Amino acid sequence: MRISLLPISFLCLVLILAQGCDQWPEPARIRALTPLEEKGWKIFERESCFSSCHLQTIASPGGEDVPGFVPDLRKRPNRTPDWYLAYLINPRAVLPFSPMTSYGYLSRDEIEALAAFLSRLKKDSPAPEPISTKDIPETPPGIEGYQAGRSIFFMYCVGCHGESGSGGGPVGHLLSPEPRDFTDAIWMNKQTEAYLFSVTTDGKPDTAMPPFKDILTAKERALVIRYVQFFADPVARERMELRFVLKQ
Ligand code: HEC
Repeated sequence: MRISLLPISFLCLVLILAQGCDQWPEPARIRALTPLEEKGWKIFERESCFSSCHLQTIASPGGEDVPGFVPDLRKRPNRTPDWYLAYLINPRAVLPFSPMTSYGYLSRDEIEALAAFLSRLKKDSPAPEPISTKDIPETPPGIEGYQAGRSIFFMYCVGCHGESGSGGGPVGHLLSPEPRDFTDAIWMNKQTEAYLFSVTTDGKPDTAMPPFKDILTAKERALVIRYVQFFADPVARERMELRFVLKQ
């Protein structure tokens, strides 16, 4: 028997409305949807696989997100339209454990509208705390730290930044600006470790670079930025790679 998901999403919508739209973020209640957001809402409803899953968490107020379960879209960090483009086309290149299916069959216009609607569900995130060098945890020097940072990079960063760190990951070309080229030694030498750590913690405003503070521990963030710095020093990197291969 084929169970239609549409009645479920309709029921969830009724539940939200029955709560007086209290669960919608403030701007959604006081400002009408723009034509683009409205188009996105129609696509959200039409793609019943998407909406029936997500409406359940939107309609059940209060609870914290359970890892591995469908997240409450209102609690996700703010995302840029190009982040959505990359994520909707290739979810696991952006978030490796995402259970989402690809929406690459939607047209670019439809994805843009869907992204506008999804952004509208968000509350603004609080401004990030400034980070100084003393907030960055110590990590093991040498191959041990390199290897740990490398695994984190290959899990969480490679989809955008690419294996060689130059920004050519599977979804890198969908982003604007494209991911930073870490092999650019002139750029890298001007960056402080505190800056690299804070971008990895809180994301980079107005770009698709996501915040990792809820995904990686401070130690893991420290390991991965120390690994990233090797891209700008090909000789040191080669030496580490050789030791890495020999250790395997
Ligand atoms: C969804 C794609 C995406 C993922 C995943 C991603 N990045 Fe980025 N990253 C970007 C983009 C886009 C930029 C911004 C480039 C620019 O501003 O020119 C960026 C920039 C950066 C920068 C430089 C900041 C600057 O001023 O340009 C660092 C450092 C960085 N990313 C680290 C990481 C690390 C570490 C990971 C994994 C833990 C990661 N990124 C995962 C897309 C991504």
